[in-house]
Amino acid sequence: MEWKEEFQHGLIWQDFQHHQLIDNINALINSVTSGDSDDKSFRKAALFTIQYCSGHFKIEEEYMKKHGYSLTESHIEQHNLFIDDFKKIISDNNLNGAQKSSVLLNKLLTWFKDHILTDDKLFANFILRHEIE
Ligand SMILES: [Fe+2]
Ligand SMILES: [Fe+2]
Repeated sequence: MEWKEEFQHGLIWQDFQHHQLIDNINALINSVTSGDSDDKSFRKAALFTIQYCSGHFKIEEEYMKKHGYSLTESHIEQHNLFIDDFKKIISDNNLNGAQKSSVLLNKLLTWFKDHILTDDKLFANFILRHEIE
C-alpha cells in the first residue's frame, strides 16, 4: 500500500503518524502474503499498534478538546471501539499468530479507509481552519 498525496490532510504531525501506520501495515502485508507471519510478527505489529493507539489517539483527542471540536465525543468513541476490537484480537485464544496477523491487517486497512480518510480528515480540516482564524 503506497502512501498517496490524497492521504495527507495537512496537519504535519498527524500526517507523519498516519504514514507510520502505513509503514506498519506494509510490514504486516509482507509477512502475511509471504506466509511467514507467526507469533513473533504478530507481536511486533501488535506492539506498534499499542504504541500508536496510546500516542496518536491521545494527541488527536487533546487537540479536539483544546479547540472545542464539535465531533470530539463521537471521534473518541471510535478510537475506543478500535482499542476494544484490537484487545479482542490479542486475547483470542482460538487464533494462532498467523491468523491474528491477518485479522489485525484487515482491521487496520478498514480503519485507514473508514476512520483516517474520513473522520480524521474532517478533524484536520477543522484544526487547519481554526488555527488560520
Ligand atoms: Fe488519526
Ligand atoms: Fe482519529
